[in-house]
Amino acid sequence: MSSLYSPPTTTTTISGATELSHHHVYPKTSQLSISRSLGRRPSPKISCKVAKNDDQNPKTTHNEGKANMFDRRNMLIGIGGLYGAATTLGGAPSTLAAPVQTPNPNACGPADLPSNAQGLNCCPPRTTSIVDFVLPTPPSTLRVRQPAHLVDDEFKEKFTRAMSLMKALPSTDPRSFSQQANVHCAYCNGGYSQVGFPNMDLQVHNSWLFYPFHRWYLYFYERILGNLIDDPTFAIPFWNWDTQAGMTMPTMYTDPNSPLYDPIRDRGHQPPKVLDLNYDGIDSNDLPDQSMIANNLTVMYRQMVNNSRTARLFLGAPYRAGSFPNPGGGSVENIPHGTVHVWTGDRNRQNFENMGNFYSAARDPLFYAHHANMDRMWSVWKTLGGNRRDYTDSDWLNASFIFYDENAQAIRVRVRDCVDTTKLGYNYQDVDLPWINAQPTASSTSRVRSVTSSTPQTAHAMESTSKSNKVVNFPKPLNKSLRTNVTRPKKSRSKRDKDRDEEVLVIEVDVKKHDEYVKFDVYINDEDVVPSKKMQVKAEYAGSFVNVPHRHTHGNNKGNHDLETTFRVGLTQLIEQLGADDDEGVTVNLVLRAGSKGNVVIKSMKIEIA
Ligand code: C2O
Repeated sequence: MSSLYSPPTTTTTISGATELSHHHVYPKTSQLSISRSLGRRPSPKISCKVAKNDDQNPKTTHNEGKANMFDRRNMLIGIGGLYGAATTLGGAPSTLAAPVQTPNPNACGPADLPSNAQGLNCCPPRTTSIVDFVLPTPPSTLRVRQPAHLVDDEFKEKFTRAMSLMKALPSTDPRSFSQQANVHCAYCNGGYSQVGFPNMDLQVHNSWLFYPFHRWYLYFYERILGNLIDDPTFAIPFWNWDTQAGMTMPTMYTDPNSPLYDPIRDRGHQPPKVLDLNYDGIDSNDLPDQSMIANNLTVMYRQMVNNSRTARLFLGAPYRAGSFPNPGGGSVENIPHGTVHVWTGDRNRQNFENMGNFYSAARDPLFYAHHANMDRMWSVWKTLGGNRRDYTDSDWLNASFIFYDENAQAIRVRVRDCVDTTKLGYNYQDVDLPWINAQPTASSTSRVRSVTSSTPQTAHAMESTSKSNKVVNFPKPLNKSLRTNVTRPKKSRSKRDKDRDEEVLVIEVDVKKHDEYVKFDVYINDEDVVPSKKMQVKAEYAGSFVNVPHRHTHGNNKGNHDLETTFRVGLTQLIEQLGADDDEGVTVNLVLRAGSKGNVVIKSMKIEIA
């Protein structure tokens, strides 16, 4: 198997920069075949020099005193060695799956950008050496990430100093703030092709790569900041938007004189404006603050408790080498992740800059606080029990990315090394989870139904006739709302059955223009065709699909640039809460809350037992 890896063609010192060769980046199809074995740890098979006394590399020799995580036994991998191993599309990728490969920073190309951002170069500086990440043993000093609204003045001083230093670095330095922001643009707007699949964009959203990619991204961002102020315990704060006191923009970020400030945000959403986790792109539906807070907690409950009972529901769908991007994002990635992006960005700008569009989102320092809370949700999720466990699929564990570290060294990281934050040397301050019991109360209609009917079956039959529900033929555009009956593969499931297998509503979605904010809400067994939002989140509310505006060609060989994805909603507990366990089917109601007419097509809808 080692023959799959061509020996490095370039020795790997910085001084060898001019020797960098590119001819291995996209090997010819005839020269390589894809093999399942690529899913295993490739690095030990790459013959390369051990960077012991790496005095040829001035950027890494001064590390020793700085609690550097990358011990000197790390291998430096030549570009030829790493990318010579590229797989290529020789057969059906679905049968010969392999992890998504490390993108080559030297092969980064123009991103797909909105017209007002043409010419922006999102690519990182070129590199001649890439170090393979190795977890430190024992783990380094623990960095503890705190809620942004609770930090003390000493922390604020440190953080603002670190950010000023980062912003002062020359823009050619991969550690500079502008380069850090561009990382997001390159990985999310088609800067990279999938290695071995030149016609396929690499995309880190809407799949199981979402959480690990962003975890690594913040990991290096945090280490760079800590390094700039010489503090190995420095930890970035998190925007604790899932608790009442955290439901405004953290004030530390809203002082116009602070390096944490970004003028390109929604001016109407400055503190004390309460954040709307279920944001539709307009403020006219806003509820009084206390109701908004209660609704936010209910949204969190839906997403973290009901809608995240499996890895696929929470982390997102599998995305392997050569497969189309966007197989489906996890529940929390849709909402509130997407809604918080768009709520923070300026809706009066063409593309909701900065936070409301992927190419510009990471230019706002709040991005990293938002994502720290997303990252925290991943840690919290694993403590909630049941089947909430990470994927064990090797194509997930071995998927890899490249980032520059605090020494401006390119590091290749794999998903497997980031699943435990304490091994990475950080964790989150323990705070309350006020949403954990915030179950929405049943709406009046479902209460009436269960009180007046003798059996749930009768109720369903009655409802069906009175509402003349029908089964819709797909595909069908979602212009305002869409209501259909969906048959369940199995009714009256036992508790054991329900604990083991999740009942999932699977909706195939085609978004024509994905540079538009799109959001639709899903309701189960709701009496209303368009449920009002001028009230508490209802028991019938099941979740939301969100598209944060962005552009990239989706690597679709059909030459079609739609965002085609699959949206999943967990139904087991919801159906139980609605008293519909014994029904043959459910009525599904999709309501378009943001997005233009004709932009969203529902391709299919079904219920699966997963
Ligand atoms: Cu990479 Cu919040 O998105």
